[in-house]
Amino acid sequence: MKNLKLVAAVVAGAMMLASTSAMAVTIGFSQVGDEGDWRPAFSKDMQDSAVEYGIDLKFADAQGKQEEQLRAVRAFIAQGVDAIIIAPVVVTGWDQVLQEAKKASIPVFLADRDVEVEDNSLYVTRISADFNLEGKLAAAWLAAESKGSCKVVELQGTVGSAAAIERQKGFQAVLDQFPAMEIVRSQSGDFTTEGGKQVMEAFIKATNNLEGICASFAHNDNMQLGAIQAMKEAGLNPGTDVLMVSVDYVPAMIKALEAGEANASVELRSAIGKFIYPVVLDYLEAPKDLPKWIVIPGDLHTAK
Ligand code: AHR
Repeated sequence: MKNLKLVAAVVAGAMMLASTSAMAVTIGFSQVGDEGDWRPAFSKDMQDSAVEYGIDLKFADAQGKQEEQLRAVRAFIAQGVDAIIIAPVVVTGWDQVLQEAKKASIPVFLADRDVEVEDNSLYVTRISADFNLEGKLAAAWLAAESKGSCKVVELQGTVGSAAAIERQKGFQAVLDQFPAMEIVRSQSGDFTTEGGKQVMEAFIKATNNLEGICASFAHNDNMQLGAIQAMKEAGLNPGTDVLMVSVDYVPAMIKALEAGEANASVELRSAIGKFIYPVVLDYLEAPKDLPKWIVIPGDLHTAK
């Protein structure tokens, strides 16, 4: 009798588990990679928030390669996930695979970076910060700090990525208002600390130790942290000799700001999961037209 009760309890438990997992929404998430400090924080938030929302998350790290993302998205389609979230490496090259998702009736959402597609009904919405505004905020701060007169070196993010394209455009749009402000050198450090260090080393060599350079604008904090290392190794004082402004506001940058080695950073929130999952889950319950862009706010933080 005792055994019978035990068997009944086990069977009931197994049935409950089976029905819960049958109900769990499955989402495939194709992430750019793990460059810098910001992106791993974003990945962790997506994974932790998925658990909170009871989502079965299939996470694919593309290691910075769009081919890997295309492969991952096709694998999600083959698995028949309920929805796909993509944080795209670059803006171009998405039309075909998004058509495939549409054909399979799997809604696609964009997180963080943008895409450029012929038909923007191929994705439901994008949830992200305003990269263009981040560039503008950085430049507006610099204009005030330098009284509108400044030669800038720029460390660009990954070539072709929405974050690099829009931060550059936003920054330049503000500079265009100040005849004595200009970008004198610009190179990609691919959003990495090592890349930023190498680019700044090249700038230091090419400009006789940054002679006449008033500021370094980096499209993310990690490149700026690499630039800070390069400048210190060259005997320069980042934050004092040269104004340092970047984007992300990661913990290592907060320390650099406190140490006076950096001057400003625009915060990019990494907790995107709590913004995107409710939108995806609501949509799956009742599909509807959503605005094409749901903006996550960001703020400028300065050392003083
Ligand atoms: O797409 C956002 C950018 O990508 C972040 O600013 C950067 O740190 C990351 O690599």
